[in-house]
Amino acid sequence: MDASRFPNLHVSQHPLVAHKLALLRDKATEPKKFRELVRELGARHRLERRLDRDRLGAQVETPLESMAGAELEPKVGLIPVLRAGLGMVDAMLELMPSAEVWHIGLYRDERSLKPVEYYNKLPDAATVQVCLILDPMLATGGSSAATVDILKHWGAARIKQISLIAAPEGVATLSGAHPDVDIHVAAVDRALNERGYIVPGLGDAGDRQFGTFAGPSSEPGHDPADETAEVVRRLQRNLAGEP
Ligand code: PRP
Ligand code: URA
Repeated sequence: MDASRFPNLHVSQHPLVAHKLALLRDKATEPKKFRELVRELGARHRLERRLDRDRLGAQVETPLESMAGAELEPKVGLIPVLRAGLGMVDAMLELMPSAEVWHIGLYRDERSLKPVEYYNKLPDAATVQVCLILDPMLATGGSSAATVDILKHWGAARIKQISLIAAPEGVATLSGAHPDVDIHVAAVDRALNERGYIVPGLGDAGDRQFGTFAGPSSEPGHDPADETAEVVRRLQRNLAGEP
């Protein structure tokens, strides 16, 4: 994928991140080790110093001219998307101990690949200015775009997506729907397969963290429904700029 098409996309260049990601992808990595790696990779911004803190209140207009005003440290909200985003929370809280944590529950419908919301306890008005969405996987981009919709509706001023692995199709979907959202990932993989899983990817991030394997029919390589494969083809046409 030509990453320069997406100015809001930030892909890790750190060799230690690449090493840990390879261990995470390995199908022999058991849930305990997998959770440790998600946690360590969740804290990768400490290595990279990439997650620059947004400063608020920069410009002031006096009657004569504009000037730089006092900078305020913004209030940060961590938004883990259940279930898989949970594994990234602790590491981020160590970096930002005063951040608020607001959970959003979404699962992806297996056939339509559309996100289904099942948990949202956000209060009426936003209590933070910067929201960091935590979710290891950005596949079709549907879950992420839906989370951004929820947070914008809530009134968040600035939103960033923090993921481990993205598919090009998902980057295109999220950037198209929300070009103002920065996307920070450890890697962008080759593509989605016909079931909407990232390849080479790591499989199902929730199942691998929590040890919940439901059998062969739910595995990422299992034959897809026609409907699912068509959703993926549509996303691939969108990525290629085709109608
Ligand atoms: C996974 C992942 C994302 C979503 C990404 O969650 O953690 O939330 O899929 O896919 P998308 O970009 O195509 O929307 P999943 O639906 O498997 O839920 P789970 O974490 O509860 O298993
Ligand atoms: N969700 C995952 O956990 N993995 C994928 O590859 C796609 C969606």
